[in-house]
Amino acid sequence: MRTLAAAGLACALLSSAAAKERYPFQNPALPDAARVQDFVARLTLEEKISLLSGEDNWHLPDIARLGVRGLIMTDGPAGLRSFQSEPSTAFPVGAAAGATWDAGLIRREGQAIGEETLGHGVDLILGPMVNLARVPVAGRNFETFAEDPVLGSTLAASYVEGVQSTGAGAVLKHYAANNQENGRNSGDSVVSERALREVYLSAFGPVVENAKPWAIMTAYPHVNGVFASENPFLLKEVLRRDWGFRGVVMSDWTGTHSTAPAMNAGLDLEMPGPAVWFGWKLQQAVAQGQVPVARIDEAVGNIAALMLKAKLFDPDGRKTGALNTEAHRDVAERVAEESIVLLKNRDGLLPLDAAKVRTVAIIGEPADRPIFQGGGSSQVVPYRVVTPLEALQQRYGARVEFVYAQGFDNEPHVPAVDPRLLSPSAARGEIGLHAVYYNDADFKGGVAFERTDNYFLKFGFGGKANAVDWTKMPQGLEAAYQTRQNGTYQQALWNAGIGFSVKWTGLFFAPKDGTYQFSLVHGDTARLVFDGKTLLDDTAPKYPSPIFKFFPSLSERHAEATLKAGQSYPLEIDFSATPTSEINYDQKVFQFGVRLPRPDAAEAIAAAKSADAVIVFAGAGSTAEAEGEDRSSIDFDPAQTALIEAVAAANPRTAVVVNEGAAVTMPWDGKVPAILDAWLPGQEGGTAIAKILFGDANPSGHLPITLPKRIEDSPSHLMYSGGAHQVYNEDVFVGYRYYDKLGIAPAYPFGHGLSYTSFAFSDLKAPSSVKPGDPVAVSLKVANSGAREGSAVVQLYLRNDAAPVPMPLKALKAFTRVTLKPGETRSVRLTLSPRDLSYWDDQEHAWVEAPGSYTVMAGASVEDIRASAPLAVGAK
Ligand code: BGC
Repeated sequence: MRTLAAAGLACALLSSAAAKERYPFQNPALPDAARVQDFVARLTLEEKISLLSGEDNWHLPDIARLGVRGLIMTDGPAGLRSFQSEPSTAFPVGAAAGATWDAGLIRREGQAIGEETLGHGVDLILGPMVNLARVPVAGRNFETFAEDPVLGSTLAASYVEGVQSTGAGAVLKHYAANNQENGRNSGDSVVSERALREVYLSAFGPVVENAKPWAIMTAYPHVNGVFASENPFLLKEVLRRDWGFRGVVMSDWTGTHSTAPAMNAGLDLEMPGPAVWFGWKLQQAVAQGQVPVARIDEAVGNIAALMLKAKLFDPDGRKTGALNTEAHRDVAERVAEESIVLLKNRDGLLPLDAAKVRTVAIIGEPADRPIFQGGGSSQVVPYRVVTPLEALQQRYGARVEFVYAQGFDNEPHVPAVDPRLLSPSAARGEIGLHAVYYNDADFKGGVAFERTDNYFLKFGFGGKANAVDWTKMPQGLEAAYQTRQNGTYQQALWNAGIGFSVKWTGLFFAPKDGTYQFSLVHGDTARLVFDGKTLLDDTAPKYPSPIFKFFPSLSERHAEATLKAGQSYPLEIDFSATPTSEINYDQKVFQFGVRLPRPDAAEAIAAAKSADAVIVFAGAGSTAEAEGEDRSSIDFDPAQTALIEAVAAANPRTAVVVNEGAAVTMPWDGKVPAILDAWLPGQEGGTAIAKILFGDANPSGHLPITLPKRIEDSPSHLMYSGGAHQVYNEDVFVGYRYYDKLGIAPAYPFGHGLSYTSFAFSDLKAPSSVKPGDPVAVSLKVANSGAREGSAVVQLYLRNDAAPVPMPLKALKAFTRVTLKPGETRSVRLTLSPRDLSYWDDQEHAWVEAPGSYTVMAGASVEDIRASAPLAVGAK
C-alpha cells in the first residue's frame, strides 16, 4: 500500500532535489515556455511516453532522474473524492449549484474545492462536469449544472476560475455528448453539427475560452461514429482550432480505444494506467512511423506545461491548501441555501413562524438520513452530515416541538449504516468504528495505520497497484495485450499490486426493537461478526448488488438479527483486499449496510394529525441516482406517494421537501400547499433547509432543469433507449426549448423559483436596431415589491425570428442575481454578444447572424416573461 506517509517522503526527497535548481526548467525566473521546452528536451523517448498514461488510477509517473514528482489527480466535482477515502467537505451536487444561478458563489465554491485539492496533496480535480441534462432518467444528471448551455457553462467557468485561483487545476468533463449512463462505454451519440454547436458544445466552449481549464476529459461514447477520445472533429477542429485550447486532453477512465488514431487525433493522456493503448504500444507505433515524434513532443509539452502550473518543477512554490475550514463549510451551506427552489407556496404556508407553531411533525427518512450526494466517482467522504432534523432541533427546538416519524422506508437496497449508531466504545464518545489497516491481505503484514472510520460506503480506498515496468513487457502479458478483452491486460497488470486488510471493531447501538437487516457489499473477502456470532462471511448467499453501479459483478450478502432498543452489541468486520480482486479495478469498494426495522405509516399519520404543521421529506433513496446506470423511473415509489397523500389528508398544513438531484414527478402536488426542491444538498444541507423552512433565509433558487408532468412529455423520450445508439432527434430543442415550442405544460418550468418576497421587472431597454457584429446592451429595473429582503434571478431570453432554420421560441442568453431590500429598486445591465444572436449554419459550417427581427425578453422563468423589447439586426 502506498501510504500517505510514504508519499510525503517521496515528495520531500523530490522537493529537496528540485530546490537545487540543477536544470533551467527548475528556474522560476525563466519564461514558462522555455522551462517546458527544457524539460521536454531532457526526456528520453521512453520517459516521454511514460508521461502519456497513468501509472495507476490517479498518478502519473515521477521522473526521479530529474527530481520531478508525477502529477496526481482525483475525482470531483462536488468536493474532492480522496482515493484513500479521506474526508473532504461535501458540497451540494452540480444540479444544486445550477439552481443557485450565482456565478460569484460558485467561484467561491471552486476556490474552496481548490484549497481542499491542494490540502490533500493533489494537483488536479476531475471536474466540473457539464454534460447537459438531456434525458430525465440519466444517472448522472445530479452531477451537472443544467439542461441549458448558458447556465451550465457560466457556472462551470466560475467553478474552474475558483479552483485554479488556488494553484490547483480543474479538468472539464466529459467532452462531449455523454448524456446518459446506459450504454455509455460503447454507445454512439448521433447529433447534428448544429445541435452540437448550439447546445452540447456550447456548454464547454465558453468554459475553455474564458476560464482556461488546465485539462479536459473526453467522454466515453462515440460521437457521430467516432469515439470521443479519438475524434478529430471534437479534439482538433473544435477544441484546439476554434476554442484555442492549450491544456491537456485526457481520456475518461478506460475510455481510450486505440493507439495511433487516438494520439494523432489529439488525445494526450490515456487514463487510467498502466497503459493499454499508449505505453508500450505507443512506443511501437512511433517506431513504425504511425505516430510522428513531433506529436509525442506536443503531447508531452502539454503535460509538462501542466506540471509547471502545478509547481512540480518548483515544489517549494506550491501552496499547501486547506481542509475542512469554517469558510469551506460556510460556502457549502450557502450553496445549499441558494439552491433551494420554492416550487409553490399556497396561502403563504411557508415560512413557518417559530413564535406561532408549537408542534411540527417531521416525516420521512431524508429528514434524519438526508441523501446529500449521488453515487459513483463523485462520491465524497464528508467531514460530517448535518441532518435537517438536527438543524431544526438545534435552531428552533427551544421554541418548537419537533415530532419525527420515519413513515416510509425509501431505500430499495440496504443503505450504508448510519454511523451515529456505531461507536468504538460504550461511552459513545466518538461515532464510527475503530479501524486497523494492515499492509497485506492477511492482517499479518504490520499495521499501516489506525483511526476511527465513520463512513462505510467506501469507493476507492486502501492502496495503489505496484507500478509496472511496461518497457519490459512479459510474454504472458503481451499475449493478453494482443487479445485484450474486458480489460484482461489491465487486470493482469493491476493484479501485480499488493493487497491490504482492515479490521473494524466497536459497538452497534440499536435505536428500536425489531428485526434489523445487515449487509456487506464488496469485491474481495469480508466477514461480519455480530454479538459474538458470524453473521456474514463469504459463504453466505450472495446477491448482485447495485450499490456501486459500475461494478455489476459485485455481490451483496444479507443477514438479519432481532435487537432490543437501547442495547449495544459488539461487532467486528474483517475486510481483506487481495491483489486479485473480483472486480476489474485496482480500487477497492466496500459497504457495510444496516436497515432499521420497518417504520409504521400509521405513526406518521397520527403525528401529522396532532401537529400545527407538517414537513414531509421525500426522496427515492440513497442509491437511486448514481453513475453507471440510468434511473429506472422519475416517479417515486407509489407507497411513498400514498404516504404523502395520507399525511396531507390528515393535516392540510403540509409542506414537502424533495431530496433529489434530478427531475421527479409529483403526483401529490395538488394535495399539498407548499413544495421545496432541496436537491442533494451536501454535508451542510440540513442547516440550509431548516433556515428556509423558518424564514431565516429567503428561497432564491431557480430550476436549472424542466420538471415534466410525466416522462413521456420529455424531448428525448421517443429516442431514449438503454442501448448503444442514441439519436438526438430533438436536435436543438433540448429541455425547455422543446416544451416551450410544442406548448407542452411542464409541472414546473425551467427557471422557476418563488420567494417569500415578490419582484417587479420594468423598463426593459434595448436598442431597436443594431448592425451585425455589434454587442447589444440591455438594461432593466428590478424592484423588491414585497416585505422581506430577497434575491431575484433575472433571466434574459432571446427569440430569433431572423434565422432561416427552426429556432426555439426562447433561448437563455444571460442572467444575473440581484439582492434587494424591501422597496429597493436596482438597474440591471446585461449584454448580448454577436454569438448570442447567431445560429449555426450546418451548410456553411459557421455561425451566422441573420439580418431581421429578434425579441429580447426578461423573465423570472422561461414561462414568466415580465418585460420584452423588439430588436432588429440590419443587413451587412
Ligand atoms: C467517470 C469520470 C471519473 C473517472 C475517474 C469515470 O468512470 O466517468 O467522471 O472522473 O471515472 O473516477
